[in-house]
Amino acid sequence: MTDTLTIRRPDDWHVHLRDGDMLKAVAPYTARVFGRGLIMPNLAPPVTTRKAARAYRDRIVAATGDSGFTPLMSCYLTDDAKAGDIAEGFKDGTFAAVKLYPAGATTNSTDGVTDISNVTGVLERMQQIGMPLLVHGEVTNPAVDIFDREAAFIERVLDPLLGDFPGLKVVFEHVTTSEAVAYVRDKASQVGATITAHHLLINRSDIFRGGIRPHLYCLPVAKREKHRLALRQAATSGEACFFLGTDTAPHAVSAKEAACGCAGIFTAPTALELYATVFDEEGALDKLEAFASLNGAAFYGLEPNPGSVTLSRSEAVVPETVAAGDGESVSPFMAGESCGWTVASG
Ligand code: DOR
Ligand code: ZN
Repeated sequence: MTDTLTIRRPDDWHVHLRDGDMLKAVAPYTARVFGRGLIMPNLAPPVTTRKAARAYRDRIVAATGDSGFTPLMSCYLTDDAKAGDIAEGFKDGTFAAVKLYPAGATTNSTDGVTDISNVTGVLERMQQIGMPLLVHGEVTNPAVDIFDREAAFIERVLDPLLGDFPGLKVVFEHVTTSEAVAYVRDKASQVGATITAHHLLINRSDIFRGGIRPHLYCLPVAKREKHRLALRQAATSGEACFFLGTDTAPHAVSAKEAACGCAGIFTAPTALELYATVFDEEGALDKLEAFASLNGAAFYGLEPNPGSVTLSRSEAVVPETVAAGDGESVSPFMAGESCGWTVASG
């Protein structure tokens, strides 16, 4: 039995670092193990310009000190986005990608896209220059059941979009269903997908285990067990189209434990350890490096990180709470519980 595992330094291809005191509190956890992070732009107001992205990147670099962590910035797509600005930002290295939030789909998405037809010009330009589009893949029609919103998005939005833009590189973010896994496989030459640690570990029943558990609520919401198993199979398969994206999304405890609690699960303190535990349970530790350190970089046309991280099979206890300034705190995923792997060095 393998008791230690050394992999190339991994990347997190989907991360929410927030801003201000929260950024300072959470960013070091991501920078501890990940070489690069693709930073989500859903601040309030959202990151829609090169100027805002550069300033935000500087704040992230300041918050992650001498860790060597590199933030890769994404641009929040709005109905009135300008193709020229976005393309310039990609060419000058400010933006690595554009993030599409359907308006109303999730946290800070009110400025998102109300109809894909409003951003056709931007998508055409992105297709020309090879700039990836990252999608929050859920329809927003309230008449569609929340557990069906991802599958409906494939049929109603994503498939027509790929038909219209056959050269556009797309990442289907935080996939949660067997339908999404099958679709990504089918379109693997054009589409990649991130998979979170929490969607590999919980199903929808866990959200209601013994009472309502607000810290297990995120969007897309966890689905039935059969979907969790499909995600585990995909992540551990080694297939190049699936890669690590934690979607770590911290919110203050007061915003989670409320009559209308925010969506988001904070996994950063033990994210890599959680993935390693899952891969071990699936007998697939030999595939962790591809998923965590190679596949995403290849999709984005980047080299893998230099350096490595070593994990060991020993219990890591997830911190109970992380202080986030102003008397606020954040409760990590599996707070106070243990997972089977620890980051030993790196
Ligand atoms: O659960 C989520 N939280 N899903 C998202 O899409 C956004 C994120 C956040 O920013 O809190
Ligand atoms: Zn996210």
